[in-house]
Amino acid sequence: MGGGIAGLCVALAAAPRPVVLFSRSRGAEGTASAMAQGGIAAAVGPGDDAVFHAADTLVAGACHNHVGAVLDLALAAPDAVQWLASLGAHFDCADDGRLCLGREGGHDRARIVHAGGDATGHAVMQVLAAAVANAPHVHWLAGHTLQAIGLSADGRVAGVRVRGDVGQVAPLAAADLVLATGGIGALFGATTNPEGADGSGLALALAAGAEGRDLEFIQWHPTAFASSSGRHLPLITEALRGAGASLVDEQGVPLMQGTHPLGDLAPRDVVARRLWRHRRAGGQSWLDARTVEETAWRQFPSVLSLCAQHGIDPRSDRIPVTPAVHFHMGGIAVGQQGESSLAGLHAVGEVACSGVHGANRLASNSLLEGVVCGRALGARLRSRGERPAPVRHWVDAGPEADSESREHITMHLTAALGPLRSGESLAAAMAAITGGPAMAGSWQGRLALALLAPALARKRSRGAHYRVDSTSGHNIRQGIETPAYGEIA
Ligand code: SIN
Repeated sequence: MGGGIAGLCVALAAAPRPVVLFSRSRGAEGTASAMAQGGIAAAVGPGDDAVFHAADTLVAGACHNHVGAVLDLALAAPDAVQWLASLGAHFDCADDGRLCLGREGGHDRARIVHAGGDATGHAVMQVLAAAVANAPHVHWLAGHTLQAIGLSADGRVAGVRVRGDVGQVAPLAAADLVLATGGIGALFGATTNPEGADGSGLALALAAGAEGRDLEFIQWHPTAFASSSGRHLPLITEALRGAGASLVDEQGVPLMQGTHPLGDLAPRDVVARRLWRHRRAGGQSWLDARTVEETAWRQFPSVLSLCAQHGIDPRSDRIPVTPAVHFHMGGIAVGQQGESSLAGLHAVGEVACSGVHGANRLASNSLLEGVVCGRALGARLRSRGERPAPVRHWVDAGPEADSESREHITMHLTAALGPLRSGESLAAAMAAITGGPAMAGSWQGRLALALLAPALARKRSRGAHYRVDSTSGHNIRQGIETPAYGEIA
């Protein structure tokens, strides 16, 4: 279930085992993967090494990561890039044929490969979607959502019920179900995620008894485009800061100066907090990209076109930006093989938590995770040939919240699970949702409580979970409790 990068890679790698791939989106469009402006992090440059990539992943993740998973990811990254190229992805190269490498927050060097500049997600998804469409073992049914999981008498996955665009509900026997349903951003008041990233896959897995992990760790990207209306905000890629842009206030004063040794390229949680504080003090934030060299702009066609639609030329005007929910580090708890605690249920990509991202994902590690972990999971499932057991009972996530309750849940989540959190606001959000039967009874309300409860319980700050009422220190990085890795609180 899921037509983003992770789902497509599982489907391809499972050959020749027959796969039924359900997705909400049609083709590559409408997925968070296709919207990704960042690229794929891989230690392919001169002097770089997977160990340095892994070290940056751990530092960004506040060492809350699973170290083995991080090393596996970093080691597999160059091969993932090569595999995508072998399928037809054209990564951006210099005139001498070498890969162009960009830099993003938290990386100690330029390490990000792009395809079509800031349209990497789109380019890579086109190639993968074409490969899946041509794969004889995959039956791809777009426009479908997962409604319920069927469990056998001994409590393992035995089937799924899905709903198509026209509302039909079809039961299907299945011994293995892979959830690759993406993130939760659509539950919040500002997000870079598409509408489909509503957490419904996670909610269903939790309702069926799968364990969740690190659900409180939610990444806010500092630079969503602030001029858009509505809550789905386009991204202004961090790679622009890698190319020399900087964050400034309304007077043009640099916002990140003195905040962190890496300045504008500090890990994302640090930058998002700085901008959030500024905003709470009544200020506005801008990305000043006028310093980006003229020749570098060809790497940013998506940003140029978005800005043009709003009458902004970022070569001469500043871009208004605001933090927005971007990525969920937590999710369905899975082992290194993508297996959840519920037999027959597997998860991969953003809906899963293998521990690879720790408390804060390093930039451009998510497309990478989708490819590496998706292919590994597909390969593992290839050789399993169990017949599905009969379904004893069906589990769904619960009723859908009405529109008013959804608005309230969004409001409470956004207020409590922002870049800055406090026990008081977390408890208030939980009380409000629990006290409203229409909210508490809905699957969105139950999921919201599942996110809020561990955030309330985790009293110390770590990575993207930053408690302003933390009693000791402000963050843990490199295993040492410090004021957020040099950050000025
Ligand atoms: C970005 O381009 O700023 C986002 C990249 C990512 O989320 O890894």
